[in-house]
Amino acid sequence: MAQVKSDIEIEKIRNSSLLVGKTIAEVARHMRPGISTIELDKVAETFIRDHGALPAFKGYHSYPNTLCISINEVVVHGIPGKRELVDGDLVSIDCGTIIDGYYGDSAFSFGVGEIAEEVLKLMERTKESLYRGISAAMAGKRIGDIGFEVQSYVEEFGYSVVRDLVGHGLGTSLHEKPEVPNYGKRGSGSKLEEGMVICIEPMINLGGRTVVQERDGWTIRTSDLKPSAHFEHAIAIGRERADILSSFNEIEQVSNGNIHIIR
Ligand code: MF3
Ligand code: CO
Repeated sequence: MAQVKSDIEIEKIRNSSLLVGKTIAEVARHMRPGISTIELDKVAETFIRDHGALPAFKGYHSYPNTLCISINEVVVHGIPGKRELVDGDLVSIDCGTIIDGYYGDSAFSFGVGEIAEEVLKLMERTKESLYRGISAAMAGKRIGDIGFEVQSYVEEFGYSVVRDLVGHGLGTSLHEKPEVPNYGKRGSGSKLEEGMVICIEPMINLGGRTVVQERDGWTIRTSDLKPSAHFEHAIAIGRERADILSSFNEIEQVSNGNIHIIR
């Protein structure tokens, strides 16, 4: 059974998740062609620690960094390093924090410089699919209703939904029950209850759905090397609608002519 959180716990997860949005916005202010992903990781780590929080991913199952930075064919869990951003990159920034023992988790995809129209559309529609999934997340509905909304929306465009990775519950651990697939059938899966906190994080591929893991043990990329986009919100299930605990507001307000921010 998935855990139902108290209002106090939900506010703690919100507090942590709001810092994640602020951190991704700070990273977005620094994005430009030529900056390395490890430099962006340092920006995030410093920002999080300056706010009295801990980077949640660092050390999680020995993950080495603060951010997952996943570029183009990398779907998720890209490890920051020497790679520099270049014009045309699709860059997913995934971040987690811990404040007072509670986790925050959210992700946003950006375009660097001039990006291909089909990549821009993939990002826009992946973001939209996240909100469609959220619209189905309320008490009485089921996990499969969320995945159905995401999948049916994106498959219309010929995109595919990654199956091997899923969203998750969130609380005093980064990954709690239930699993939240981005595909599914209406009315299937476990029932959503008021007070459950989950992360919905569609990973949508321009090409086929299959992915492979690189030899570093983390990086997940598309098998066909076509691009993939990723957006993530943490939400609390309410009686009539979800309460979005993370926020893209600060990210969407960033003004940086070097990158494209889907608003
Ligand atoms: N945000 C990712 C998720 O939701 C977590 C990254 S895995 C880690 O699953 F090891 F980097 F933490
Ligand atoms: Co997550």
